[in-house]
Amino acid sequence: MSGRLWDKGGAADAEMLRYTARDDWQLDQRLLAHDLRATVAHVRGLGRAGILTADEVALLVSELDAIAERERAGAFVLTDADEDGHTAIEVALVAKLGDVGKKVHTGRSRNDQVLVATRLWERDALDVLAEAVRAGARTLLDLARREAWTPMPGYTHLQRAVPSSIGFWAASFAEGLCDALDSIAGARVLVDRCPLGTAAGYGVNLPLDREGVAAELGFAAVALNGMAAQTSRGLVEAQALSAAWHVSALARRLAWDLSIFTMTELGFVKLDPAFTTGSSIMPQKRNPDVVELMRASCSVVQGALAEVQSLVALPSAYHRDLQLTKAPTMRGLDEAIATARLIPRLVASLTFDRERMAAAISAECYATDKAVDLAVAGVPFREAYKQVAGEIASLERGDPRASLAARTSVGAPGNLQLDAIGARLEAKR
Ligand code: ARG
Repeated sequence: MSGRLWDKGGAADAEMLRYTARDDWQLDQRLLAHDLRATVAHVRGLGRAGILTADEVALLVSELDAIAERERAGAFVLTDADEDGHTAIEVALVAKLGDVGKKVHTGRSRNDQVLVATRLWERDALDVLAEAVRAGARTLLDLARREAWTPMPGYTHLQRAVPSSIGFWAASFAEGLCDALDSIAGARVLVDRCPLGTAAGYGVNLPLDREGVAAELGFAAVALNGMAAQTSRGLVEAQALSAAWHVSALARRLAWDLSIFTMTELGFVKLDPAFTTGSSIMPQKRNPDVVELMRASCSVVQGALAEVQSLVALPSAYHRDLQLTKAPTMRGLDEAIATARLIPRLVASLTFDRERMAAAISAECYATDKAVDLAVAGVPFREAYKQVAGEIASLERGDPRASLAARTSVGAPGNLQLDAIGARLEAKR
């Protein structure tokens, strides 16, 4: 007998089976613990609904726990002979429990089974991502606190603009990462609804205790309409990947800045040697490969997002196309987590060349201050602007710290509001 749950006798084409199962046996390995947990909740729910006896529930739960134990020990390993993880679990239950095992799928479809396992996996992944982002933001906020008054040039268009500070630069990432945490929290709200009990998408003629099952699995709510639940697959993943992309896009900006700041000609920043790689031919080289891959990482997440977005162009209800949302979802979230995890140690390893940064704040960087000062003295701003524009060549360097200190509006370099950013960072979402 084949392990296929849908085997009704008759041959199935081997190549078709491989083509449809694809890499599910590898991807589902990562869903297994969640699938088992959801299956336990489903079985208990069937018990409460009077569909399984207390003895049957006890047998199934204890065997599911045993499989989970084997899975944790690396002894429940899917192979390319398994169509998917859901099948492997049921086959293992039947092998051990016979007819009782054959009852586990009562009132359930693999459609809601994969959905719930995916949601549980994603919820964990988003929590891990959020923690990594928070750690990165804390490191950048610490840097902002330490270097709040360390001058550096501020650029627009990569051209010198006005005096700025390391603190201002670092705080911009801390605040940006707070925004990303809000994106993650938004995606988590969508992930946190339980689709189990929608079966193939149309409910089932049993009094399933959906609320109880959702509560046991720690979901905040039940996904009500089965068709909405099934067609949310991919849409929810796109939001999770979008949040991951938000993180990656900030990491890319950080990486770009570090690429520029570490460039030999600028030399504002040095990476710790432990964060550099070498050249196979140029003996002197210490290269910032890590920063460049951090920049490229965003493309991986963006590609995963685009893949999922294009897959959900479907009519209502379940379609096997949705299976292909699994790989990019995992790939994109894995990628964003790996990148976010690097940020704290990378940032902590930076050394700044204060002299070079101060020296780069040339006289023209004070032109805006000068024009505003004239305006305060009563010269209409446009006149002041023209006057200063005519004197650029003869402008003198000002005091960068005084320039910073004079900008006192909230959030400006002289009033960074780091405690407010810190409070936002630590706020319970
Ligand atoms: N591997 C499948 C997926 O990810 C499981 C669900 C299969 N359902 C079905 N009706 N063929 O979508």
